[in-house]
Amino acid sequence: PYTQKGSVSWESPSNIALVKYWGKTEPQIPKNASISFTLSNCHTHTTLSYSPKPSPSGSFDFKVFFEGEEKPGFRPKIEKFFARIASYVPFIEQFSFEIHTQNSFPHSSGIASSASGLSALALCLMSLQKIIDPRITENHFKEKASFLARLGSGSAARSIEGPLVVWGKHPRIQGSNDQYGIRFPGDIHKVFNTFQDTILLVDKGVKQVSSTVGHNLMLGHPFAKARFNQAQDSMSRLIPILKNGDLDTFIEIVEKEALSLHAMMMTSDPYFILMKPNTLEIIERIWDFRKTSGSHICFTLDAGANVHILFPEKDKDLVSSFINKELIGFCENNQFISDHVGFGAQLL
Ligand code: PMV
Repeated sequence: PYTQKGSVSWESPSNIALVKYWGKTEPQIPKNASISFTLSNCHTHTTLSYSPKPSPSGSFDFKVFFEGEEKPGFRPKIEKFFARIASYVPFIEQFSFEIHTQNSFPHSSGIASSASGLSALALCLMSLQKIIDPRITENHFKEKASFLARLGSGSAARSIEGPLVVWGKHPRIQGSNDQYGIRFPGDIHKVFNTFQDTILLVDKGVKQVSSTVGHNLMLGHPFAKARFNQAQDSMSRLIPILKNGDLDTFIEIVEKEALSLHAMMMTSDPYFILMKPNTLEIIERIWDFRKTSGSHICFTLDAGANVHILFPEKDKDLVSSFINKELIGFCENNQFISDHVGFGAQLL
């Protein structure tokens, strides 16, 4: 048995899906492939301190701290995560842990921290596994980190690497699979390496509907089959675009995906609307601005009211003055976050 104590730290980013994951079966197996930009400024910093238990027990021993304060309220989620992954990382029962975590983005910003938070924790556990067994290869390390993260939160599987990550089996993407995320394997046009994502914080409240509930509502959904086919088709259409940089078609696919995600929520049983009036105001203004400015600005949405504005770096000055002049007033307390494509998690 391992007898040393110590700590490891990782910083892991959030991601924004271009083709959306919405619908899954147990254990977190997606109904369609999805692809996302890895972000950079929005990330979680996690330190995992470990000390071997005097006598191993069959339970998990850990404390969670968020921004320096102990948070017993976070325990159930992590307890559940540990239970799901224990058979793949059985050593976790032999340690007492302290998990110290903080986010770079405001806590109640309506930005989900599950992708960055669970990927950071999964990476810390993999670092501990590597300390116990140094033979593990870099590839296996990343794959398994993504695999563990996925069992916590599906989209977290896409936060380990960058700039574009595919998760879910797609017949035209080599190596893609339902178990863990992979870097998009083809050539990527250089425009996508510098894409910007400005997140307009329209509604910073807690989500009315959890993503778990949302995914489950896809199971009996009347449009499920068409939606999963549409997503697979969006992936197929994106493959050549990611290589040739055709931004007009990119925009059409990305916006359609965002609206389809929300269309599924609006037509499920029970139905719900997560967009707010300001979400629609912003979308209309983006459409007008795109027509008149000739810039390649588009929007996407997560399961919430906030709007992600995506654009290539060349349009940065133009878009930033547009946001400041026309859009900022639609954000809660005028708040927005400027982010851009990143290259994955970092060991600290
Ligand atoms: O990772 P989850 O289970 O919270 O699902 C997130 C799903 C969306 O963010 C709405 C879309 C996506 O692919 O990220």
